Order: sequence, then C-alpha cells, then structure tokens
Amino acid sequence: MKPEISTYVEPHAQFNGPIRRAGINCNLWYMIAMSSEIQQRPVRREIWKQPVVLFRTRQGEMRALEDRCAHRLVRLSRGRVKDDNIECAYHGWQFNGAGRCVHIPHLGSRTTLPNCAVRSFPVVEKHGFVWIFPGNPALSDTTVPMEMNEWDDLNEISSFVTLRTRAHFSYLIENLMDMYHGSLHAQYQVWTAESLKEVVEGEKQVSATYQATTYYEVKDLGSILQLFIPSLRKLHSVPLTVTYEYPNWKSALGEDFKIYCLICPVNERSTNAYLIHYTSLAKFKGLNNAPVAIRRLLKRVLSNVAKKLLANLVRQDVIMIEDEQAAFDQEPLRQPFEVNRAIRRVQELVRRQATDRPLN
Ligand code: FES
Ligand SMILES: [Fe+2]
Repeated sequence: MKPEISTYVEPHAQFNGPIRRAGINCNLWYMIAMSSEIQQRPVRREIWKQPVVLFRTRQGEMRALEDRCAHRLVRLSRGRVKDDNIECAYHGWQFNGAGRCVHIPHLGSRTTLPNCAVRSFPVVEKHGFVWIFPGNPALSDTTVPMEMNEWDDLNEISSFVTLRTRAHFSYLIENLMDMYHGSLHAQYQVWTAESLKEVVEGEKQVSATYQATTYYEVKDLGSILQLFIPSLRKLHSVPLTVTYEYPNWKSALGEDFKIYCLICPVNERSTNAYLIHYTSLAKFKGLNNAPVAIRRLLKRVLSNVAKKLLANLVRQDVIMIEDEQAAFDQEPLRQPFEVNRAIRRVQELVRRQATDRPLN
C-alpha cells in the first residue's frame, strides 16, 4: 500500500496579485546547495516554504526528504544518517531515501510498522550543485537543471559567492536584469551600460542585450595587467547580454566574461543564490596543448580570483534589494516607476510562471 504523505498542491491559474507575493513554478529544477556542502551529516535547506533535509548514503548518493519527521513533525536534520537511512533525533524513527518509515525502535522487529512516510524529492547533482524538483515528481524528467558547461571546462576559471537576501526573488532578478545601476557599484563594476538594444522573449525566458563599454579582456599579458592596474585600462565597446532563464540568470560580457546566478527562492521574503563568475582563458592558445593535469592545476589555483570583486557587488546590490522589499512591506499598494522595458518583460514572466498559491 502507498504510504500516507502530505502531497504537493496542484498549480492554480495565472497569478494576478502583487508581483512581490508571486509564487514559483514548482515543476522545475532548483539549485538548493553546492555539492561540496552535502556529506553524510544531514543539512537543512528550504525551497519555497518547503523544508528539505539533504544527506548522502555511504555510496555518496544524494537524498532529499521533507525536513519534518512523520511522527511529530520535528526536523529530521537534527538527527543522523544510519545505514543510509535518516534517524530522527527525538524517538529514533528511521526513514529511507524514498521517505518511507523503516524502523521504530520501541516497536521492536516483530510489530508491523505504521504505514507512514515523509515526502521525498527528486534530486540530482550537476555542474557542482545539488538540484531539487519541488513540484510533482512525475514531471521531473520533463525538464533538466540549467546548463552551465563552463563548470567542467578547463579553460574557464570560476569564482563564486553566496547571496542571501531578505527579499522576494523578483527583486533579485530585476536587479540582475537592470544594467543601468552602474553608479551603485562604481569601481567594482567592469562595465558601463550605454543603452538597451534588444529584448527577446520566450515562454520561460527574457533576454536583454545592452551596448556596454568595458576594459575587460583576457587575451594576452597586457590585457590581464590592465585588470589590476587602472592606468593601463583601454575601453572598448561590447554587447552585454543578460538572460532570465527562469528560474535562474546568466550574463555574458563580450567573449571572456560570464556570470551565472542560480536562484533558490526560500519564501516571499527570503532568497538564496550563488553567483558564479567565469573568465575564459580560451584565447591563450598554448594552454590548450598543455597536459590536462597542468590545466586542472591552473583552474584550481586561479579559482576564486574574482571572489572579492563579486562579494562587493553582491553586498551593494543586497542593500538596494532589501530597501525595495522594506518599502513594499510598508506600502504594498504604492506603485514604483519603471522605465526599463526589460524589467516589465521580466515581471510578466514571473507572473506567468507563478503557479504556486499566493499568500493572503
Ligand atoms: S518526532 Fe521523530 S521519531 Fe518522534
Ligand atoms: Fe548590481
């Protein structure tokens, strides 16, 4: 018999309430952690009001269960992993990777276990991150986690930072799509957006291309030196494309510079994300002929070279995003002005995808 579990709520019709209360499309894959953060010890995370406990089996396989024990609904993440099951800290009930209750210590082995379970989520690891499917599990193979092939590319040097903001995810994505706030970042931002040239829309995507001016280029020693020595900088004009690939974001500045933002909406007023920056060394032709071990070493040694820069950008953006959320909370009916057409398209996309129940 199928165990009794609280199940997922079927989507409602299109969301028409305030965008800052819009839900998410649960039937997609969401980044919930870095792979390296999850070992055998249980870790608690949250995706759109659903608490999740992540842990690994002895073989290293990832498991994701609802972080509420079926017995008294306490956090399973306070417990431990035993024989590939998770054991609740309170009375020691054990649940297997599918969420089914497989052991209740005080009942002994001869008593039939009650037919109970906690919810288990489809979970995969891809490009160094853990991805979870919070919606209807039967739909999990209809879509895939976001592609980020640079993660495994030996020519791509990555830097990353975490971003935690006490704000609705729509504020974060609008911040990432609006390239007209360079004055906020001053010395930390390597480009200046001149003008928005094109906005292209798809069912789950909005892409905006700006004409930008930058000194960023990685093609020879001189171009690298100018990144660190302002007096050597030479400006040139490049396209800057930012894309909301719902529910995540990516950008490309010329050919050598990319940033991804993997977004985990926690609830109406909390959003977690990872920003991953890639610098391409593809123009250094000699590198492609170097032994793979050397290239791996170089990728590892140079990793996080831009971390400080990213962290400063994030810190400044989060202050603005949280100001916006606070203003909304104080005056939810007040309409701000918006003049960037890319942002209006983004808001429409958030609305179209908001199939979850809104909060009252
Ligand atoms: S609350 Fe978890 S075993 Fe009792
Ligand atoms: Fe910014």
